Amino acid sequence: MSDFEEKVREALASPKNQGEIADADAVGTVGSPACGDMLRMWLKFTEKDGKRVIDRASFQSFGCQTAIAVASMATELLKGKTAEEARELSVNDLTGGLGPLPPMKIHCGQLVEGALKSALDQTPAAPAAPVGATLSEAMKKPAGTIRIVPLE
Ligand code: FES
Repeated sequence: MSDFEEKVREALASPKNQGEIADADAVGTVGSPACGDMLRMWLKFTEKDGKRVIDRASFQSFGCQTAIAVASMATELLKGKTAEEARELSVNDLTGGLGPLPPMKIHCGQLVEGALKSALDQTPAAPAAPVGATLSEAMKKPAGTIRIVPLE
């Protein structure tokens, strides 16, 4: 097992910040055209030292193990960042302690980056768009050609 795979395995042993934030300020959902996996990210902001910063970030995923491990890392390191700081994070920033993604796994990190950017595209001052359903409920709707892979 490679060093990267070992780190992913460790991250999956206790993934952080899974699940919906009911009173989130922003939510973004993306699907990967490369593999059909999907990921949704919620952001909750707070005021700290006169700045509006991310208080909590969470995710739900029907993605692969790498996407879940990256989302777990990313939602941890987003805490305390402003929307502008969060927007500047690259895929390799979001992987945190996992380190750089192998070429075959870059789109997994891009899924997390895409969900984050999608959430950030909502202005923090504006109320979050109504989510209306959990990701699993959304998954039950017809999804065109998107392949859905439920996790255990
Ligand atoms: Fe699709 Fe990793 S294989 S997100």
